[in-house]
Order: sequence, then structure tokens, then C-alpha cells
Amino acid sequence: MVRKTLILSTSLFVLLLFLGGCSDPKPEPFKTGEIGPKEYDPEVWGQTYPLHYESWLKTQDPKPAGKSRYKKGWDDDKIVYDKLSEFPFLGLLYNGWGFGIEYNEPRGHFYALVDQLEIDPKRVAPGGACLGCKTPVHREMVETHGLDYLKKPFLEAVAMLPEKLQKLGPACYDCHQANPMTLTTKKAHLEKGLAMIGKTEPSRQELRSLACAQCHITYVVPRDESMKVAGDITLPWKNAKWGDISIERIIEDLLSDYSRQEWTQKVTGFKMPFIRHPEFEVFSKGSVHFNAGVACADCHMPFTRSGAYKISDHDVTSPLKADLRACAQCHTQSKEWLTERIHHTQDRTASLILRAGYSTATCAKLFEALHNVKANGAGVDSKIYDQAKDFYMQAFLRLVFINAENSTGFHNPAEAGRILGDSIAFAGKCEALQRQLLAGAGLDPGLEVALEAGKYLNNRGKKGLNFKPEQEVKDPFGTQGQFLSDTAKGL
Ligand code: HEC
Ligand code: HEC
Ligand code: HEC
Ligand code: HEC
Repeated sequence: MVRKTLILSTSLFVLLLFLGGCSDPKPEPFKTGEIGPKEYDPEVWGQTYPLHYESWLKTQDPKPAGKSRYKKGWDDDKIVYDKLSEFPFLGLLYNGWGFGIEYNEPRGHFYALVDQLEIDPKRVAPGGACLGCKTPVHREMVETHGLDYLKKPFLEAVAMLPEKLQKLGPACYDCHQANPMTLTTKKAHLEKGLAMIGKTEPSRQELRSLACAQCHITYVVPRDESMKVAGDITLPWKNAKWGDISIERIIEDLLSDYSRQEWTQKVTGFKMPFIRHPEFEVFSKGSVHFNAGVACADCHMPFTRSGAYKISDHDVTSPLKADLRACAQCHTQSKEWLTERIHHTQDRTASLILRAGYSTATCAKLFEALHNVKANGAGVDSKIYDQAKDFYMQAFLRLVFINAENSTGFHNPAEAGRILGDSIAFAGKCEALQRQLLAGAGLDPGLEVALEAGKYLNNRGKKGLNFKPEQEVKDPFGTQGQFLSDTAKGL
């Protein structure tokens, strides 16, 4: 293992030397002095770095269809993949807020802010705070206008941005210092997050991940006691460490006080925290690649030829859609072998996501039943009830953590399996306690709990979105059907 790592690192080093030094095509020459320190507009950067600008613009183009099994996003078949149809239990669990109305698989960086303008308005209900991971101007806006900007209705907050930049997502400014041209991070929330976990002065290789961690991390839109937006986004990383931002620490932080409760789950009536795209947290929690010193950019921004030059590919996308060119920098195995390894992990993760998702959804429906029983005046042991509720939160947040992570387990296979296993265990415990309480109140929910998934998935939001059966992710091993019949699922 160590020897292999050494061989891989050595070959990577040789490869970098080769690419960096004596080969043709050459790296694009660096120019300095032409880009101001607060230049947000990529077009201006593009006058100095036309090849990078062109490459960055390509995130606008749809990617080849049929190459990725689980991240179909927006490919040249132009189909938008609806996460709620892929994982129908999400419709039930997220009912009560924006994510339960419209929630799509990601597409290229070009669309980061565009998609916010196009999505159901409930998704951007917090207002200006939603721009934290989108516009490069966010930090300056917060520094200048504070809460006034953060709490402004979304479209009004967008209108406060410089007119030309109102549709601009991840930009050169976010990841680079212009003079001299270096890699950096600019987001205030990441700066504070890194201070929390004691990471000062990251190395260049660490920056090749941290540039992405500016947005590919989970965050909280903090609330006051009446659930109104109370500040800029923050990272729930209290008591975590570099290389160890575990789900356990994150949950501890998220459940610590009301400022983390962002929405009310309709089925249970519970005020809940939420977890968003935790790519960096999952990847950096001891994955084989992280521990071997591999960075996000190694797999998502490999060197690519551009005319007479070679540059880091700024058309950031799924490595599968880029034919796994990135992997070949370090791996000698065939594309087929590597693809099989990716699918091997993703199939197993998807299967467990279904198990955890439907188990947690079952608990949600049993809380609905319990609350009805309570409303009808039956006594319910509050100690057991509180215990069940705690198990439920633990199951829910673990499920969301891995389901919202965008690699379907690939970034850290063993950790994804561990967390989903725990989610299933917490949900199982919760259900046992709930059945005990219901039995005490003389109610038998039956062998299978009816989830009524269709009720939550059809006619959603302003667009009246419906369940798309052809997009549903089916258990690759066929196990899920043994736990839940189609009738109980209710689609
Ligand atoms: C300023 C925020 C931001 C930064 C910085 C950022 N991303 Fe993203 N990224 C996003 C958003 C938002 C989306 C989803 C866009 C959409 O669906 O509209 C996204 C989408 C993606 C996708 C999916 C693309 C596709 O074709 O489906 C990949 C892969 C990705 N990012 C990787 C990275 C990597 C690697 C880095 C660092 C080199 C990075 N991102 C830096 C915000 C960011
Ligand atoms: C060892 C290679 C590797 C590393 C390192 C890596 N990724 Fe990935 N990433 C992948 C693969 C493979 C997928 C799965 C793509 C698919 O299923 O189509 C993926 C998927 C993604 C996606 C979803 C892509 C899509 O099209 O929707 C995002 C976003 C992403 N990675 C971001 C990151 C970030 C951020 C980091 C660093 C914290 C990172 N990746 C590190 C290989 C890697
Ligand atoms: C999401 C982060 C991100 C964004 C946005 C981004 N870059 Fe980069 N860029 C990188 C990374 C990562 C590297 C590799 C740097 C390294 O390893 O030191 C890089 C490298 C470069 C380099 C050095 C040469 C090379 O190809 O490695 C130039 C020049 C550059 N980028 C220009 C731009 C320009 C111009 C834009 C906007 C049009 C831009 N970048 C947008 C992350 C980004
Ligand atoms: C910068 C170098 C680098 C890149 C790029 C890279 N890998 Fe790796 N990969 C490694 C190293 C180092 C290991 C650990 C090797 C070992 O010890 O056997 C590894 C291990 C693996 C393993 C075995 C993991 C395990 O859990 O045992 C798989 C599978 C893998 N890589 C797939 C990929 C795929 C797919 C890509 C492209 C999306 C990729 N790698 C990109 C360096 C890299």
C-alpha cells in the first residue's frame, strides 16, 4: 500500500515535471499587472488569460449523456434530473420547504446563479444570504450592507449586485489572486471555518481542495428565534479538526441551538437543521485519496491541451463525463477498470441510501400517527418519545449528509457506508420505540407503514412539478423491495 502510494506519487511528480518543464505543449505564460485587486468580471481576466476564460466558459455547455450512472445533471440529452424523483422519500422528508418543491442534480458552474433565478422561489426564500456560495461580490456586499442585504428578498438582493455580474457564479476572483497570479480563497465563511478547525496557512496542494471547499461544504443560514435570517452563512464545524470534520461533530453543532433550525418539516412538525453538499467534509474525512495528498482539482481540473498550450481544465465537471482523463495522471489501470470501481462504490452507496431514506421516512410517518394519537388525548410517555425523536434526527441528518454529497459515495466509500449504516440503525431504533408508544395508545400501524409518497411528489410548487417515474433510482441489488412494497411506498 505504502509502496504503491510512493510509486503513484513518484509518477505524479515525474508527470508534473514532464508537464511543467520540457514538453510541448507549453504552459500558458503568466502575465501580471493587468487585473485589479477587486476585479470580479471574468471577461476582464479573460483579456490576460484567454485560454482559461474559454475553458471556464465551457461549464455552460451540456456534457455527453450516458457517461455517468448517478450524476446525470444536465447532459446533451438536455434532461434536467429531479432529485426528488430519483429518491422519492425525499419528497416526504423535505415537505415543508424549498428543497421539497424543486431540487435538481447539479450542472456546470456557469449556471450556479442562473439556476437560483430559475428555480422555484421557495428555494431562495432566505434572500440575499443565498448568494453566499454564488456571487463573488457577496463578501463586499455583506461588508457594505450587512443584514439589509442578507435579509433582502432574493431578487432584490440580486438587483443590488453590479448589473453585469447579476448572473455570475464561481469566478476567477473566487479562486485567484491576480498579482501575482496564485490560487487562493476569498469566502469569509470558509476563512472562519478554517480558523475553527485550526487550519492556518494551507499549502498549495491544500488550496487545490480549499478553492472548491468555498462552496462544496455544508453551511447554515443562521436564524433568530422566529426563524428569520439572522446573519451570513456559517459552517457547523465547531469542535471539528482538519481531516476530521465528522458527521458526529456536525450533528452536535447543528443540534446545539435554535440558530441552526432553518425549516419546519411538515409531516412531523419538527423544526429542523439541514445539510447541503458536504463534498469537502466527506472527502477529507480520511478517504484513501485525501490521505494520499490528492486534491479536488487533481480529479476535476486535470491538465488539458489548449492550442499550443496546456492548462488546468477549468471546465469543471464529473470525471466520468471527461472520460477519466484526470485519473490517468496517477493510475495506469484502464478506463473500464476505473469506471467499474466507481460504479462498484456508487451502486452500494445508492442501495444503502434507499434503505436509510425509506427507514427514516417510515419514522416520519409514525411521528405523524403519534401526533394524531396525542391530539386525540391519548397519553404518550415523554421520555420514550424524546428518545425516539433524538434517534430520528440522528438518522435523518446522516441520510441527508450522504445523499446531498454529490459523488454517490465515491469521494469516501468506507465513510459513506459507515454513516448510512448508522442512519439505518438509528431509524430502526426509532421505529421500535414509536411502535411501543403506539401500542401503548392502542394503535397498530400494521406491518408496513403507508408512506403516501405520491402525495408529496405531485403538483409541486409554482411549476406544478410531478414525479418522473423513469428517473427513479432503483436498488441495484434489488434488496429494497423486500423491506417496502410498492403499495406501501404509495407512488
Ligand atoms: C463559488 C462557489 C463554487 C466554487 C468555488 C466551486 N463550486 Fe463547484 N459548483 C457550485 C455550484 C453552485 C454548483 C451547481 C451549479 C448548478 O447546478 O447550477 C457546482 C457544480 C459543480 C460540479 C457539477 C458540474 C456538472 O457538470 O454537473 C462539479 C463537478 C463541481 N462543482 C466541482 C467543483 C470543484 C472541483 C471546485 C474547485 C476547483 C468547485 N466546484 C468550486 C459552486 C462552486
Ligand atoms: C480521486 C478523484 C476525485 C477527487 C479527489 C474528488 N472527486 Fe469529486 N468526483 C469524483 C468522481 C469519480 C465523481 C462521480 C462522478 C459521477 O458520478 O458522474 C465525483 C463527483 C463530484 C461531484 C458531482 C459531479 C456531478 O456531475 O454532479 C462534485 C460536485 C464533486 N465531485 C466535487 C468534488 C470536490 C469539491 C472535491 C474535493 C473536496 C472532489 N470532488 C474530489 C472524483 C473525485
Ligand atoms: C473554482 C476555482 C477556480 C476558478 C473559478 C478559476 N480557477 Fe483558475 N485555477 C484553479 C486551480 C485549482 C488551478 C490550478 C492552480 C495550481 O495548482 O496552483 C488554476 C490555475 C489557473 C492558472 C494557472 C495555469 C494553469 O492552467 O494551471 C490560470 C492562469 C488561471 N487558473 C486562470 C483563471 C481564470 C482566468 C479564471 C476565470 C475565467 C479562473 N482561473 C477561474 C481554480 C479556479
Ligand atoms: C493525484 C493522483 C491521483 C488521481 C488523480 C487519482 N487517484 Fe486514485 N489513487 C491515488 C492513490 C495515491 C491511491 C492509493 C493507492 C494505493 O495505496 O493503493 C488511489 C487509490 C484509488 C483507488 C482504490 C481506493 C481504495 O479505496 O482502496 C481507486 C478505486 C481509485 N484510486 C480510483 C480513482 C479514480 C476513478 C480517479 C479519477 C476520477 C482517481 N483515482 C484519481 C492517486 C490518484
